[in-house]
Order: sequence, then structure tokens, then C-alpha cells
Amino acid sequence: MRSNALLPALLAVTAVACDGKEAPQDSSAAAAVTFYRDMEPVIVEKCGSCHSPGGIGPGEWTNPETAKTNAFLMNVYVQAGKMPYPAADPTCRDYNGSHRLSLTDAEKAMFQAWVDADAPLGDEADRTPGLSVPDLSLTDTDITLTPFESHEVSVGEDRNEYWCVVLDNPLTETRYVTGIDVDVDNRQAVHHMLLAIDYGGDAGIEYGTDGKQRSFACPDPIVESDWMLLHAWAPGMEAVEFPEGVGLKVEPGQQLVLQYHYYDDDPATPIGTDQSGYRLRTAPSVDVEAQMSAVGPTNFNITAGDPAYSAADKIRNEWSDITIYGIFPHMHLLGKSMRSWIGKSGEEDVCLIAGGYDFGAQMTYMYTEPVTWPRNWNLNVECTWDNSAESPYQYNDPPQNVTFGEGSDEEMCFALFYFAFAG
Ligand code: HEC
Repeated sequence: MRSNALLPALLAVTAVACDGKEAPQDSSAAAAVTFYRDMEPVIVEKCGSCHSPGGIGPGEWTNPETAKTNAFLMNVYVQAGKMPYPAADPTCRDYNGSHRLSLTDAEKAMFQAWVDADAPLGDEADRTPGLSVPDLSLTDTDITLTPFESHEVSVGEDRNEYWCVVLDNPLTETRYVTGIDVDVDNRQAVHHMLLAIDYGGDAGIEYGTDGKQRSFACPDPIVESDWMLLHAWAPGMEAVEFPEGVGLKVEPGQQLVLQYHYYDDDPATPIGTDQSGYRLRTAPSVDVEAQMSAVGPTNFNITAGDPAYSAADKIRNEWSDITIYGIFPHMHLLGKSMRSWIGKSGEEDVCLIAGGYDFGAQMTYMYTEPVTWPRNWNLNVECTWDNSAESPYQYNDPPQNVTFGEGSDEEMCFALFYFAFAG
């Protein structure tokens, strides 16, 4: 009976595991899923970047013994769609790393079959040679931006702190940023980082300082009105790389500001200090100068208890054709899914982003092929939140209405996008 139930799974497994190889002769022994032959390549590629030493996830699933011991738990997370974290659906639009960020149905079936067979390690001789955890950090960066001081994180009663630091601008000539990576120092504390240029060169003035301080508290509004965002980072984020010949312009003397959002989810333990910074890959020239902008509603009131409350917004392209390179969907803890698309009445919508959202693993999805946003078309965004008692990161007991705001106990709905005017 048990093997009957397994049959479809095993067939699927055979298709995956024997890709390009001779199919096993039959018999459950040959088809039994093993760690070394079947599971290791998938785990190394799709779990390893977080669940190996230095990664953000607990447990070292790439270690055969640890994987075996935790096989049951891993499978529970996999079958529930919790791991890997929900990510944008590549069938809406494909992006860099899409293959790595989700499991196929066949791979999910393989996890199940492996656990059903008591998670055998199998024969080491079956190992795929040369496997290694994907290294997702940018290695060819040429500029490092480190804050001048380590900040003693100090959250308020609502457990949030917003802190800004003016970075030393090391440029002696105009450069174009073609790749962006972040060195996160205190992973427990940092909930987001925003890197911006302050065109006025007086960061802090709108936060009540004299505009000359090198670090200062920077609560609402989100960013000063004369800042241009270069990058937004949130937990789980991988490096951003622009297509060949595209970059963000930064000039010598421009004031670079880094805004941090710290959040203390465990007031019982000291949160410590932080000195997170940036690493940039730059080029002396590019063909296309990219910028970053955002669209999203701010006037919503997410009903207490609603498992799927949605709000939407759009902007019309009144200028000229625009090329979009990638999107960073951003919501807070109650965020469940986001959809973004380009549309015009009477025309078919062009999908930009669709799919699950998890605060713990936010991504800038850089498209494998840039998308055109024609003049006079709208860019739409729609967010859905789960404000029920069962919501995975629910912080109100019982749930309360939640409105727009910067705090982790308020909500946001922004599609931040990298774009350039075409032609
Ligand atoms: C982007 C990083 C990332 C990737 C990729 C990832 N995980 Fe995780 N995983 C985490 C983090 C962070 C946690 C801890 C927070 C949580 O439970 O949500 C976690 C928690 C888990 C847990 C719970 C562990 C415990 O002790 O409570 C399991 C099981 C798990 N992951 C399995 C997997 C499997 C299997 C894969 C690959 C198919 C995978 N994860 C891919 C980051 C990741």
C-alpha cells in the first residue's frame, strides 16, 4: 500500500535524479531516494546559501548527517511551501536566480519520498562531483562604504529605531554603479537599509538637525525629499547586478546617506551594536543611466482579522517609453503577496511581479530580460496582507487594524523599481 502511494512520487523522482543518465532498472531499491545521489544536489543549490555555515538560516542542511537528522522537519517546511521562502513566480516574468529560489513539484516529491524511506544517505560513490554552495556575494566590487562609527542600537518603546549615517564619498571621478551588495553586521537588528544620494548635501536638516551631523536619528518621513534612492536592502536580499552597460550615476562630492531601520524582536537579550555597510561594483561609463523609483498605496486600513486584505495603486507613464530592469516588492510583517503589472484599458496586462511574499526573505528581482513600460500605460501594484490571528508574523493579540507607516508594526506596500528612459 505504501509503495502504491509513493509511485507517482518515485516516477517524478526518477525523472529528476536520472536526468541525462540511464534510468534505473526498476525495483524499489534502485529507485529509493538517497541523500548522496538525489538530495544533495538540490539541498546544496536551493538551501545551502542560507543553511550552511555563515548563512542566515539555522542548521547545516548541506552536512549529510545533519540533513538526515532533520529530514522530517525539512520535509514539513518544504511541503508546507514555507521553505525555500515564497518567491516571485518566474512564469509571470523570469528573473536572475529564479531556478534556485523555488523547488519543482518533482523535487518536492523527492523530499517526501526520501523521508518516507527513512532518509537514507546511500552510497557516497553516487555523489555528484564538484558540488558547492552558490556564492551569492559580489566578488568584483571596487568600492566599500563603511560607516565611520559603530552604532549602539537603541530602540524606543515600540522596539524600532531609525538611524542615518552620512558615508564618506571616496569618488574622485563620476562612476556608475553596476552591482550592489551589502555587508550586514548585526543580522538580528537590521530590518532594512536604504542607500541614497542627498542632492542638497544637508542630510538631517529635515530631521531637525543642522544638516552637518554625520549621524542622526531619522524617523518619519521615510526619506528626505531631495534624496534619490540607490538601493534598498531587507533580510534575505541577494546582491543586485544590472545588465551589461547599465548603471546608477554617482558623482564625487555627492552626499551618500545610509538609513537603517533597527527592530528588536526580543527585548530580553541585548541587541548590541551595528556597523553594516555597502560594497559597490562601479564602471567609469555606461550606455544607460538607471534610476530607482517606487509606486504604492499609503492610504489603507488593513482590517483586523482579515486573512487577505488588498490595496492597490498605479502611476501613469506621462513621459516616454521606459525600460524596467527589476523590482523590489516591499511590505512589512503582515505582507502575504504582491502583484505588479503594466496595463492600459483595452490592452493585455504585462505581468511584472506575482507571487508569495515573506518578510524574512525579501528580494530585488532583476529581470533576465528588461521590460518596456510604454508611454501612457499605467504601472500598477496590488498588495495583499494577512491580518488574521494565524498570520505567520502576527504581532497583535488579538489582531488590530493596521495602517501605513514605517514601523515594523505598521504596513507598507511599495514596488521599488530600477528603470531608465528609453532612447
Ligand atoms: C534565503 C535563505 C533560505 C533559504 C534559501 C532556505 N532557508 Fe530554510 N530557513 C531560513 C531562515 C532564516 C530560517 C529561520 C527562520 C524561519 O524559521 O523562518 C529557516 C528555517 C528553516 C527550517 C526550520 C528550522 C528550525 O530549526 O526551526 C527548516 C526545516 C528549513 N528552513 C528548511 C529549508 C530547506 C529544506 C531549504 C531548501 C529547500 C531552505 N530551508 C532554504 C532561510 C532559508
